[in-house]
Amino acid sequence: MTPRGPDQLETGRLLLRRPRETDAEAIFTRYSGDPFVTRLVGWPTHRSVDDTRAFLLFDAGQWSNHPAGSYLIFSRENGQLLGSTGLLFESPMRAMTGYILAADAWGRGVATEALAAMVAVARQTGVRRLFALCHHEHAASAHVLEKCDFAREGVLRAYAEFPNLAAGEPQDVLCYAILL
Ligand SMILES: CC(C)(COP(=O)(O)OP(=O)(O)OC[C@H]1O[C@@H](n2cnc3c(N)ncnc32)[C@H](O)[C@@H]1OP(=O)(O)O)[C@@H](O)C(=O)NCCC(=O)NCCS
Repeated sequence: MTPRGPDQLETGRLLLRRPRETDAEAIFTRYSGDPFVTRLVGWPTHRSVDDTRAFLLFDAGQWSNHPAGSYLIFSRENGQLLGSTGLLFESPMRAMTGYILAADAWGRGVATEALAAMVAVARQTGVRRLFALCHHEHAASAHVLEKCDFAREGVLRAYAEFPNLAAGEPQDVLCYAILL
């Protein structure tokens, strides 16, 4: 049987845990409702906490049907919610990852530390290919992936719409992956 991802884990500075229904308000306030933070993600900025609740329902389904789902990222020092990361399984051996942080948590290596934890969870749960996609101009995100030893596999041309960018044109996307 495939091992399941832990409900909670710790890294040097972070506590990562599976989300709960009661986290919706904090997620909405900290990042999912922030137009600045969500500019380059693949989902529309949440308009109300109900959008965040709908995401948590979707994520609960992921946790039920797969070895893991998303993780919230907290500071171990003061318990503050910093953001979110996770694994989205496409098959037992292939999963996608990503990350989003509240603006006041940027620039301190938090995304890199959280992503390294996701690589470890992916390895534990039998993933062989862990990949991530990012907007072709998102240098900070690409750099986080490179620091965690993801290889840049190429540019997927006109691959995805970014619903929070003004133009509705499909955008080029960088594809990064690590083999485990
Ligand atoms: C992208 C994001 C997760 C980065 O988080 P972070 O915790 O600041 O990232 P880290 O500090 O771990 O690493 C960022 C690295 O990129 C570098 N960087 C930051 N801005 C950069 C830029 N414009 N160009 C090049 N490098 C940049 C930083 O210097 C750092 O590298 P270093 O450690 O070698 O100095 C964060 O900005 C975020 O949540 N953005 C909004 C959501 C989002 O866009 N998510 C990704 C969708 S693909």
